[in-house]
Amino acid sequence: MKVIETISDMQTQSLEWRRQGFRIGVVPTMGALHDGHLSLLELANAKADKTILTIFVNPTQFAPGEDLDKYPRTFEQDKTLCEEYGADAVFFPSVEEMYIPNASTWVNEEVLSQGYCGADRPTHFRGVTTIVTKLYNAVLPDVAVFGEKDYQQLQVLKKMTADLNFPIEVVPGKIWREESGLAMSSRNRYLSESEKEAALAIYKSLHMAADEVTEGTDLIKVRQQIFARIVDAGGKIDYVETVDSETLEAVDTANGGIRCLIAAHFGPARLLDNMQLN
Ligand code: PAF
Repeated sequence: MKVIETISDMQTQSLEWRRQGFRIGVVPTMGALHDGHLSLLELANAKADKTILTIFVNPTQFAPGEDLDKYPRTFEQDKTLCEEYGADAVFFPSVEEMYIPNASTWVNEEVLSQGYCGADRPTHFRGVTTIVTKLYNAVLPDVAVFGEKDYQQLQVLKKMTADLNFPIEVVPGKIWREESGLAMSSRNRYLSESEKEAALAIYKSLHMAADEVTEGTDLIKVRQQIFARIVDAGGKIDYVETVDSETLEAVDTANGGIRCLIAAHFGPARLLDNMQLN
């Protein structure tokens, strides 16, 4: 497995693989890999001939005061896992490599990125869409795999990829959960055992919501129940929304596909989770 640190070396390698007729898959990550990331890598391996996992803690998607500095960086361990799970290359650029000083160009998706995490973290998605565009340009992939745990991010990136005519298939990977049901996240490392236990209220309330919707309970009541359960467990809620699973529009009646999106703080971690309710 190759470790590649510069954009030009990455492009040279990808162009060579493309010339040889290989289909290239990319799994963009910020490292601190867990089983969820590795399931995305396996999905990419199944969809492509050559797989590149990118590791880059992207400063532009963190606002001042967020956890950029303490975000876990575990490169040696990540590299071993990538090798074990069959990546052909890890792209591991520095901040200076990815961002030219005084760069003044951004990529913005202006509809799906607006509410939910976009409302709580106003510059977050601009950072995500910009870095993913730059990673696409470095890796030149045919397929890009993103996890459903960051459901709004997935929809924003699908839209950006289509809107900008990237010839790239975006493939969603399922949420990977710890045995308890807690959605896997690099930020789970910030939690103590008791905070993890409390945070399970998110998963349990999503399950309850899916059952309630099957029984015909209206979505306003379902959201109130979720809210109460998370607050009872000590969580601080950023949002609980029921949305159309494609357009992300908030909905109160279950006509099409409904996804419930949750962001809540437990201890030092802001956790995201979501579930299809029907
Ligand atoms: O989901 C993530 O880990 C990041 O937002 C991504 C897509 C790698 C962009 O930095």
